[in-house]
Amino acid sequence: VWGAGASRGLFLVFEGLDRSGKSTQSRKIASHLEKAGPVKWMCFPNRKTPIGNAIDLYLRRQLELPDEAVHRLFSANRWEMAQGIVEDLRAGTTIVCDRYAFSGVAYSAAKGLDFAWCQAPDRGLPCPDGIFFLHIDEKVGAARSNFGDERYENAAMQASVRAQFKDQRLRGSVNWRDVDGARDAEVIHAEIRDAVDGMLEERRLHAVEQLWM
Ligand code: TYD
Ligand code: MG
Repeated sequence: VWGAGASRGLFLVFEGLDRSGKSTQSRKIASHLEKAGPVKWMCFPNRKTPIGNAIDLYLRRQLELPDEAVHRLFSANRWEMAQGIVEDLRAGTTIVCDRYAFSGVAYSAAKGLDFAWCQAPDRGLPCPDGIFFLHIDEKVGAARSNFGDERYENAAMQASVRAQFKDQRLRGSVNWRDVDGARDAEVIHAEIRDAVDGMLEERRLHAVEQLWM
């Protein structure tokens, strides 16, 4: 457990399937929060680190790896940022993050790996103050899906990931909010803004906790 304090930053995570609007919504809330103080936007995978380079090659099908190995790389890619996240939060910087450990578990479990096994390496990471899960039903998803050719960008995989995201082992112990992602972007943003404004006072009184511990 890391330091509490009225001045610490908030840690907000956006999750969802590919094309659910995470990037749009996370950037919108980041610019909203910038009016009140320092904000950092980040995403996972962070393709810029050496571990992230390997993940990028894997996603672009230029590197083959066993499912178990790439799962551990995705997790390691979060751990290499973990200390920096805690330091930023302590220093008063709010962090808005596009995907986190919830994607890590959902995508790997969707490939058939054991759910608890997938969850284990991310236990103990900085726990977000709030997770906004942008959900879109299958029909909307299919209409939006002009998928590229990266790994996982196909309807069968997305359907499987969608099912994994429903698992209570992901949502149970965290501040998880389902957000209907099929609506107008401004309407969605207004709902998220209200939720975050409500969190500003309450969440910062708590220390940054550890995920799934
Ligand atoms: P994505 O956020 O979709 O990147 P981009 O915005 O460049 O499309 O992430 C790439 C893929 O990686 C996506 O299909 C989800 C997958 N993924 C995992 O399988 N495990 C993880 O831990 C994370 C963070 C992402
Ligand atoms: Mg994507």
